[in-house]
Amino acid sequence: MSQKDLKEKTIDKSAPSKSEDSKTIPVEEPKNTSKSAEKSLKDTTDSKDTDNNTKKNQSMEDKNSNSELKTFFVEALQDIYYAEAAIEQSLAKIKNKATCEELQEALEDHELVTKKQILRLEKVFKLLGKEAKKKKCDAIDGILKEVDEMVKNTEDGSMTRDVAIIIGAQKVEHYEIATYGGLAQIAITLGYEKVADLLEANLDEEEDTDYLLTEIAEEHVNFEAAEE
Ligand SMILES: [Fe+2]
Repeated sequence: MSQKDLKEKTIDKSAPSKSEDSKTIPVEEPKNTSKSAEKSLKDTTDSKDTDNNTKKNQSMEDKNSNSELKTFFVEALQDIYYAEAAIEQSLAKIKNKATCEELQEALEDHELVTKKQILRLEKVFKLLGKEAKKKKCDAIDGILKEVDEMVKNTEDGSMTRDVAIIIGAQKVEHYEIATYGGLAQIAITLGYEKVADLLEANLDEEEDTDYLLTEIAEEHVNFEAAEE
């Protein structure tokens, strides 16, 4: 069965005017139809198809072992979409609690990066022809609650508080790294190459941030905290 031509969809005009977000996005059809012949494949069955072809597609749909995986994939995207929004709010609060200038800058930068990542996720939903929806993520809520508590339990203006913020932020990054790493691989498995590229772009940024936080801790903050 040949693949359907890419459908053109227009990006939500309310999205910020990043050049990469102001173009039309085609809904991405899986490259490997044998692995992803679900509803989209059913939709490709137009009047030109013979009855036999229709039956064949229907049977591919029924036997598609990845349709459950696709459902899981979309729900996991809704989960990380929720998580990114919660992280953005948390960074807006936490950045002002840090003392070390480098840490403040890293948190500010990551707040901007997070906004960009949210836009990429919205693009992912569009590519999949799905509505961008949030699904409550208890894991990120728990980590962010812990970050808040660590900040409350450390002295204002102390380097020990900065240590706590770095460890908390790295817990967040590692959660995101695990999520984006896994989801990018699932996207590849399902044949969604553009989606995989977007998820990998988010993954790279999380890894860079994690590395930067380690550097700030090891080069300045930990030593200064040890002197308090
Ligand atoms: Fe993120």
